[in-house]
Amino acid sequence: MLFLLDTANVKEIARCFDLFPVAGVTTNPTLIAREKRPFYDILTDIRAVIGEGSMLHVQVVGTDAETMVTEAKQLRDRFGAGTFPKIPVTPQGLKAIRILANSGFHVTATAIGAPLQALLAARAGASFTAPYVNRLDNIGADGVGVVAGIVRLFSAYGLSTKVLTASFKNVQQVLDVALAGAHTATMAPELLNLILHHPLTDSGVAGFNADWAEAYGAGVTTLDLASV
Ligand code: G3P
Repeated sequence: MLFLLDTANVKEIARCFDLFPVAGVTTNPTLIAREKRPFYDILTDIRAVIGEGSMLHVQVVGTDAETMVTEAKQLRDRFGAGTFPKIPVTPQGLKAIRILANSGFHVTATAIGAPLQALLAARAGASFTAPYVNRLDNIGADGVGVVAGIVRLFSAYGLSTKVLTASFKNVQQVLDVALAGAHTATMAPELLNLILHHPLTDSGVAGFNADWAEAYGAGVTTLDLASV
């Protein structure tokens, strides 16, 4: 499963790309609006940080297929081939996905709440489908179960469309979609950090550091001992 960052905050993106094996960034209108900066400035900065080789998923905001298609084309012209227009699975969105996929675009079908929506989006030509795990959990609809259903449908029908799971609020949800066979999970930087938190890891590292410092001195590394 690939890890993506679900944020439009350039500082956080830079910090996480430096530390974690992150395959790209997803944004949505809410995340963009939160930055309170001009839209194109934000995306230009994100692309500069992540480079041309990383995926950048950007949501269109038009409500009719023609506008969505035009937005998608403009976004890809501006931010390169690794730009994936995110299009909600409305009837107009489905039409836009089909038009774009037929012209060679890699489209991410988003705001998915049920497996059959994902199947329709895949049939329309979407490269990714994005079910919202935590939002489903919050209405008692079993987000991980929906993801597992989509994975099963794509496998049963031999579809190459990938499942880009989104909307996470805890590490267990991320683990559960990974075990269900999701291809990708996008999450907030804080959640990515939390994945590495483990009491045994923390106490293990602290113990090693203390024992080492007692024997060789605080702050001494193996580099300092090379000539001894
Ligand atoms: O981009 C869509 C999805 O990631 C939304 O997540 O946290 O707002 O439910 P959230």
